[in-house]
Amino acid sequence: MKRRVGILISGGGSNMVALVKSMTGDHPARPVLVVSNDPEASGLEKARALGVATAVVDHRLFGKDRADFEAELDRVLREAGVEIVCLAGFMRILTPEFTRKWAGRMLNIHPSLLPLYKGLHTHARALEAGDGEHGCSVHEVTAELDGGPILGQARIAIDAGDTAQSLAVRLLPMEHALYPAVLRRYAADDRTPVFLSEGISAVS
Ligand code: GAR
Repeated sequence: MKRRVGILISGGGSNMVALVKSMTGDHPARPVLVVSNDPEASGLEKARALGVATAVVDHRLFGKDRADFEAELDRVLREAGVEIVCLAGFMRILTPEFTRKWAGRMLNIHPSLLPLYKGLHTHARALEAGDGEHGCSVHEVTAELDGGPILGQARIAIDAGDTAQSLAVRLLPMEHALYPAVLRRYAADDRTPVFLSEGISAVS
């Protein structure tokens, strides 16, 4: 039986596309639903074009009531029989109640070498710190923001002329390689971390 994957997005969904495209053939999982908290997210159309069902749970309709928003999110995921949730550019902070419900079954990709730079503006913060390298991490989601066990990291070098924008552009293809590689292992109950470096495509 293939594991049923739900992917949560808020925007363009390029990581979602990479995940969906990876789940074919002997992959142990299949995408069953893409959910956005933003009805305007362009990733929704990309998911439909790939033949994946979509849903919108618009956080604005729930005002400040995170519990009601998350209850609806949870309902939509369960109704689709989702077993593993992948956060892919999902820009809402989830409460400990929700993360507890999905503990051990929810992943996130974050654009930094965690535990460095949790939260926002990761590229700019790596530059400001004078770091020689940058990267992205896939981790299990726990109640601590960007704090769960790390399942994989991909690294890029920071060059003299880099800007936050150039780092984002170079990092994104690494995200697209890392997240599917981690999900493939995770869906097979293999938690061995995946490590990638720019220019080296093999999965370790
Ligand atoms: C990605 O760079 C992802 O790492 C980041 O948002 C982008 C989404 O792009 N996620 C976060 O910052 C989460 N804190 P995408 O919609 O094209 O996948």
